[in-house]
Amino acid sequence: MRQGMRQGMTRRRSNSNPNAMRVRDSVAAALIDQQERHTMKIAVINFSGNVGKSTVARHLLAPRLEEAEVIAIESINSDGMETATLRGNQFDELQDQLMTLRNAVVDIGASNAEDFVNLMQNYDGSQEDFDLFVVPTVPAMKQQVDTIATLRSLSEDIGVPASRLRVVFNMVDPRRDLEKLFAKVFEAHEDDQGFMLCTDAVIYENPIFEKIKGFDRSIIELRNDPTNYVAMNADAIEQGEPEEKKAWIRQMVALKRLANRVTSELDAVFKVLVQ
Ligand SMILES: Nc1ncnc2c1ncn2[C@@H]1O[C@H](COP(=O)(O)OP(=O)(O)O)[C@@H](O)[C@H]1O
Ligand SMILES: [Mg+2]
Repeated sequence: MRQGMRQGMTRRRSNSNPNAMRVRDSVAAALIDQQERHTMKIAVINFSGNVGKSTVARHLLAPRLEEAEVIAIESINSDGMETATLRGNQFDELQDQLMTLRNAVVDIGASNAEDFVNLMQNYDGSQEDFDLFVVPTVPAMKQQVDTIATLRSLSEDIGVPASRLRVVFNMVDPRRDLEKLFAKVFEAHEDDQGFMLCTDAVIYENPIFEKIKGFDRSIIELRNDPTNYVAMNADAIEQGEPEEKKAWIRQMVALKRLANRVTSELDAVFKVLVQ
């Protein structure tokens, strides 16, 4: 028996100071343009799994929107098996929830993606709840084929305009040519212009996305961590700390370095997507 939407839909709130928010809202609202505030609702969707939907939602999109919630729509029941069908009342609940939020990122699990599109079709105009549909893709052939099907479905079945339908090329090997790596997707784009392809919307293969899973911190939190782990490592050697502690410090040095670099990369991709 699948668990209810309430459990299926998990929320996360990015860290930001609510007081600072309020001051900005009341005093400086007129000065802060839309571009900076990024008031947006974004759906992350692909009929394929393992393309980086959750990664994109959590590490690329949510941290760059003010107080954005990630609403994950995954129908995985208690014994870990995926179950089908996203029901109408659960979709109602999502629409209702979206209307109470200024910013949100909805991470639509592959097993629910087709139901999601079907429900959007029934609820005329519901695609307008989203400013953007982000479709991550990876080089594997099956995923490219599913990506094209996802894009066509969003465009043709529910009428999402090309300007709001964006591909993110994920797990890209920087040594490879992007248009060759994603030849199928580029080919589909030549045939129909129903979606946007931007060759700057690229996330490279990066071990940080795996490594960060063992940590309860986001990439940006790591990037902003002021601790000097290099100095801490030197102290630990000096003081003969146990190997376990020293290994942890070394891992933090590596993670922080990765986080610095990938944060700038993700900043650039976000800019391209919200343009
Ligand atoms: N750019 C990347 N480089 C390396 N690993 C990645 C990258 N993007 C995602 N991953 C890893 O690939 C796996 C699938 O990503 P995930 O976001 O869970 O996909 P989805 O939500 O589409 O199923 C995860 O283990 C994730 O850490
Ligand atoms: Mg996922």
